[in-house]
Amino acid sequence: MFKLCGFQFLLVIQWAMCQNLGDLSLAGPLKDMNFSIPEGAGVRPIYQFISETPVIFRATGEKDGIIDIVPKTGMLYLNGSLDRETKAVHRLQVECLDENGDVVKGPYSVTIYVEDINDNPPKFDQTTYTGVVRQNSRAGKPFMYVHATDPDDPTTPHAQLTYSILHHFPNPYSDMLFQIDSTTGAISPSRTGSFYLDPQKQNTFTLVVAVKDMAGMTTNAFTSSTDVIINVKESLWKAPPTIYIQENSTETHPVNISQVHSNEADVIYELFEKEGLARFPFSIDRNGVIYVTEPLDREKKDSYLFYAVTKDSVGELVDKPLQIKVIVKDINDNPPVCENALTVFEVQENEGGGSTIGTLHATDMDEKDTLNSRLKFSIESQVPAVPSSNMFIVQQDTGTLQLMSSSLNKQTAANYSLKVMVTDADFQTICEVQVHVIDINDQIPIFEKSDYHNVTVAESIPVGTVILEIQATDTDEPDTGSSHIIYQVEEGDPNHKFIIETDPETNRGFVKINKALDFETDKVHNLVINATNPEPLVSGVQYNASSRTLFKVFVTNMDEPPTFQQPVYTANVSEDIPVNTLIVKAEAYDPEGDTVRYSLEGDVKKWLKIDSSTGNIYTASALDREYKELYKVDIVATETKNAAQRSKIPLILHLKDVNDNPPQLVTDYPTFFCYPVRGGEKALIQATDVDGHVYVPRITFSLGDDMETKKNWEISKVNGTYAHLSPKHGNFEEKVYIVPVIIKDSGNPSLENKVNLEVNVCQCSSEKSCYIKLQHENSKPSVGQAIGILLGVLLVIGAIIGGVFFHMKYKQKNEKKSQQKDAKDQTECVELNQ
Ligand SMILES: *[C@@H]1O[C@H](CO)[C@@H](O)[C@H](O)[C@H]1NC(C)=O
Ligand SMILES: *[C@@H]1O[C@H](CO)[C@@H](O)[C@H](O)[C@H]1NC(C)=O
Ligand SMILES: *[C@@H]1O[C@H](CO)[C@@H](O)[C@H](O)[C@H]1NC(C)=O
Ligand SMILES: *[C@@H]1O[C@H](CO)[C@@H](O)[C@H](O)[C@H]1NC(C)=O
Ligand SMILES: *[C@@H]1O[C@H](CO)[C@@H](O)[C@H](O)[C@H]1NC(C)=O
Ligand SMILES: *[C@@H]1O[C@H](CO)[C@@H](O)[C@H](O)[C@H]1NC(C)=O
Ligand SMILES: *[C@@H]1O[C@H](CO)[C@@H](O)[C@H](O)[C@H]1NC(C)=O
Ligand SMILES: *[C@@H]1O[C@H](CO)[C@@H](O)[C@H](O)[C@H]1NC(C)=O
Ligand SMILES: *[C@@H]1O[C@H](CO)[C@@H](O)[C@H](O)[C@H]1NC(C)=O
Ligand SMILES: *[C@@H]1O[C@H](CO)[C@@H](O)[C@H](O)[C@H]1NC(C)=O
Repeated sequence: MFKLCGFQFLLVIQWAMCQNLGDLSLAGPLKDMNFSIPEGAGVRPIYQFISETPVIFRATGEKDGIIDIVPKTGMLYLNGSLDRETKAVHRLQVECLDENGDVVKGPYSVTIYVEDINDNPPKFDQTTYTGVVRQNSRAGKPFMYVHATDPDDPTTPHAQLTYSILHHFPNPYSDMLFQIDSTTGAISPSRTGSFYLDPQKQNTFTLVVAVKDMAGMTTNAFTSSTDVIINVKESLWKAPPTIYIQENSTETHPVNISQVHSNEADVIYELFEKEGLARFPFSIDRNGVIYVTEPLDREKKDSYLFYAVTKDSVGELVDKPLQIKVIVKDINDNPPVCENALTVFEVQENEGGGSTIGTLHATDMDEKDTLNSRLKFSIESQVPAVPSSNMFIVQQDTGTLQLMSSSLNKQTAANYSLKVMVTDADFQTICEVQVHVIDINDQIPIFEKSDYHNVTVAESIPVGTVILEIQATDTDEPDTGSSHIIYQVEEGDPNHKFIIETDPETNRGFVKINKALDFETDKVHNLVINATNPEPLVSGVQYNASSRTLFKVFVTNMDEPPTFQQPVYTANVSEDIPVNTLIVKAEAYDPEGDTVRYSLEGDVKKWLKIDSSTGNIYTASALDREYKELYKVDIVATETKNAAQRSKIPLILHLKDVNDNPPQLVTDYPTFFCYPVRGGEKALIQATDVDGHVYVPRITFSLGDDMETKKNWEISKVNGTYAHLSPKHGNFEEKVYIVPVIIKDSGNPSLENKVNLEVNVCQCSSEKSCYIKLQHENSKPSVGQAIGILLGVLLVIGAIIGGVFFHMKYKQKNEKKSQQKDAKDQTECVELNQ
């Protein structure tokens, strides 16, 4: 006979199962059975096998000195604690023998599955880790890993590890420079790190990395930590300095022009450009060597800007793009070019030596302001060479042609052909020039009329319209610069609203609108127009009043519609704004100064009204954000005298949500603490608010202010929607406590809600289950008695049936109450007969 003491006659119930476990008994006939028992549970009965005829029970198999059966009673029991990490499943055979030791029933297989509890802390593989990271490494790209193991059951949260960075030395910025992947332990630079890491400033960092089991979910998880030393190295990924390539190169292409190096191995180098070139003459190879693939032409494109990138095997960018700048260096590979195939100048017969005839223009495509494009002019030949062979001279650096002496004579030569040589450093080009000797300009243009009176035009007249034709005549040699006429507005048009074009055949002038007219600024333009020749007049002759004429332009007004001060009006109003509130002042004016009347269009809900004379818009009825958050109507402005002149612009009303819902506690899972309570444990509670998102993130939690609550509990904020509830001491009974919690949103005004939170203090088998004390023999568990926790966790292990323990009064005569040394554990002793 022996005695098992310290049984906790408690019924273990798991929340998820309690409903369909109603008829599960703890004694029954011998048959194949499976049990699931939490490890470390201690001495306890498991199940009683019952036989109608007296038999002796025998268990064989993996008893491991812990599991056995009482031969007479068939009580299967544990004589010690199971350890899942040692053995997760115990397979036994149980049979019934008669007095002679012959098997009369069985063997049956009885399997005991050891349920994991979180009894092992996670452990890092190394006590310290060292890693190297390069400056400018990509944020989130791991450069090292830490790893920890936990011997607990890998299918439960007990061995689900989460990593985090506890400390970061030094920590010079508000955000950490490194981050860790909570599940893989991968350490990578953060965004801040990717940007700010710099070995010149700080080349070593120490991180304290923590690992926590229970998937990081509850506060009674185990934690370990390790040191991670990180060395920062300079980035290899640097843009090369500007690359200079000489154009029109005769080297064999492609030519290596630079090389870039990624900080990471096995990357794919690529180039891309953003200029949209038809042909991109650069390439990069697998080692990052950049080539120019063909000779460049500076005259087509004198610089290139492109980017080198690195990609990983799935095409993700590894490094930030590097900007590569290439400048194409000029060589003198372009000859000078004459601006015109033939340049014609005119010179009056009487002009004197040194007078300027004109300037010959030539260009060179090579780089401006270098010797490659510096041009020099010289006269090669002059035909005819009469009266002398050097009638003209060209200025070497400007190409300006001048008359050498005053010996021109139309009778001798009316026409000279010159070949002017234009040279750069290497090339020369001949430009053809003709010089026509023309009659002297001794006649001025004379207008047919000295006054063209007036014309009346609407201010809306299109630009380019001809409003007047004018005519002057010049009796100098026809078709020369002495008789051609240029008309200009000499007075009355400071803003160049008019322009005059000349027909070269007839010298007729056309006055056109050059810019839009505006009645409101200029109702009349008094123009003075002059007529001149391109050739200068001979000395002694001057333009006089006959080369001028007058002209008036009257501008008439067009009735224009009113104009609003703004292209659109917007207003943000709360949906609960009272009727008759002024929300917007619309303002329009009429360019002609007429008074304006206002009205609204499209106010389908009749929410608004407008003061027709002031443009003030008021609410006319209750607004409702739930009908429409953005309500659009049109504001119309109409001229009082001419209702056809109207303008319309939108008014957009932005309706703001009003806080009309108090926050609520989320009670999807029960709140509990394991008995006995130590004080200081934390349970997470959550609240929500159905109002617009503006109010959600800031809910404040507080406790009801009765003495009892204040004495027992405290609440602390986690974030906008979560808080921790903690018992303040260890003196709690095993029962359901009602804790009044006040939750308040951040609306203005804010709304609050007082909720009676049920908090269970209960015996726990592990973090995922509670025991409830059974008051009476054979009483069945009800939902009300059961306390569940963390539904999500339960679902994981939902398939495993938890062990069920009954208060066993099967041997009344042998039962004897005894006092246990740990009084609050309320234990009892049972005598078992061997
Ligand atoms: C015990 O569990 C095993 C494996 O899950 C199963 O195959 C067997 O049918 C179960 N036996 C009983 C009696 O439930
Ligand atoms: C329980 O185990 C102890 C030693 O661990 C042993 O002395 C005792 O006999 C065992 N009792 C039973 C009933 O198996
Ligand atoms: C390419 O040129 C760069 C310098 O421009 C040089 O550093 C690199 O070694 C060259 N690479 C090869 C493969 O020639
Ligand atoms: C290259 O230079 C030669 C003379 O040096 C010239 O004839 C040729 O047009 C040039 N090519 C380009 C593309 O500029
Ligand atoms: C210039 O001379 C050529 C003949 O040398 C003649 O054909 C042409 O008409 C002349 N031009 C003028 C404007 O005199
Ligand atoms: C405009 O010109 C007409 C003649 O073309 C003349 O009769 C009239 O008086 C002029 N009007 C003004 C305002 O000068
Ligand atoms: C003709 O008018 C233009 C433009 O105002 C002015 O520059 C020029 O000097 C005038 N010519 C004469 C000869 O008055
Ligand atoms: C302007 O000069 C011409 C001669 O060049 C002369 O015929 C005309 O009368 C003059 N006009 C005035 C208004 O002086
Ligand atoms: C209305 O609110 C929106 C955002 O809610 C803001 O962008 C806009 O500037 C506000 N308009 C006015 C007139 O206050
Ligand atoms: C608030 O805290 C809870 C629990 O720690 C977490 O699950 C949730 O994501 C947090 N919410 C925000 C907005 O940070």
